[in-house]
Amino acid sequence: MKSELAKKFFDTYGLQPAATYFTPGRVNLIGEHIDYNGGLVFPCAITLGTWLCLAPNNDGVIRFKSVNFPEDKAIDLAPSYTKDGSGWYNYPLGVFHELQKKSVIPQGFDLLYYGNIPIGSGLSSSASIEVVTAFAITDFLGLDYDRLELVKIAKRVENDFIGLNSGIMDQFAVAFGEKDKAIVLNCDTLEYKIVDCDLGDHYLTIINTKKPRELAESKYNERVIECQAALKALQTEITINNLCELTAEKFALHSHVIKDDTVLKRATHVVRENDRVILAAKALGEGNLEEFGRLMYASHQSLKSLYEVTGVELDTVVEFCAAYPEVTGARMTGAGFGGCAIAIVKKSAVDDFREKLTQYYTNRIGYACEVYVSEIGSGATAI
Ligand code: GLA
Repeated sequence: MKSELAKKFFDTYGLQPAATYFTPGRVNLIGEHIDYNGGLVFPCAITLGTWLCLAPNNDGVIRFKSVNFPEDKAIDLAPSYTKDGSGWYNYPLGVFHELQKKSVIPQGFDLLYYGNIPIGSGLSSSASIEVVTAFAITDFLGLDYDRLELVKIAKRVENDFIGLNSGIMDQFAVAFGEKDKAIVLNCDTLEYKIVDCDLGDHYLTIINTKKPRELAESKYNERVIECQAALKALQTEITINNLCELTAEKFALHSHVIKDDTVLKRATHVVRENDRVILAAKALGEGNLEEFGRLMYASHQSLKSLYEVTGVELDTVVEFCAAYPEVTGARMTGAGFGGCAIAIVKKSAVDDFREKLTQYYTNRIGYACEVYVSEIGSGATAI
């Protein structure tokens, strides 16, 4: 990959890259829509991701080009930047904006990106491009940032520059992921534990529904606001800083203060999902895939009926999985509203699973889904 990209870089800029970096995408095993509620999440990095080749220049210009997109952007070095339309380059541009707040970038850069994460699939292509940029520029310039600072910078890009009020899970997972491991991350304290993700004779598969994620951003921000409303109501009766401080039992004692039915449903999902992550991490640690799978289905059901972020495409995938004997567990992963599901599938059955699921899905939805066997890869790195 590195030499192919170097060639593309040469074709684009007429010189060799000075350095190349990679940052993966991620899947979340369980713990959905609770990172922005101070909850526990359980993601792992995958091997699909974003590569970045770069060379410094003396033109005082930052050039953003991509192998994937025809649009590019060139911008003079400046103390700050603003978002420009909806082009892909806003993600790295936002990173420069954030970096300029603390360190003055001394020179221009010629940048070439290549990614193989399907865009809009909910596998964190945006966190991947943000983190690869932050990691690459600070590493190349020898600036003193630790990984967590880079994660926070990338999250600010997403929240303040792009305008999605997401939590920290994606940026954290793609920066800190380790091969064949998953991360149990407490999104309140940012304490984390790297744990083995040993699925024995099963594969982790990713099913891309290929449903375009229309309005996903506004619906996502709407969920964030609903959770804030639930928190505010609960705070009239108890002292908490976020919803995930409550167990399901404690929540039941106080939930009467939430008067809006929709808000109540959202909060119910959040507190129960947080409890499920604790159980799921324990089950995986004990090699109890059956229990892990049960929790995955319960998570999906809750995201469907209480959080209402699944949709017919993701539900069709999970419905098939639940009836297919060699699948241990399945659920949507990421923000939802289309995007991807994950399923734990017996290795010996994976080809049959792919074929039958694709047929089932196509018959009901009208177009095919895609099924990949996923490897768990490492986080941001120079290559
Ligand atoms: C998106 C966001 C994350 C998280 C998930 C849902 O991926 O970027 O912060 O909220 O959705 O769990």
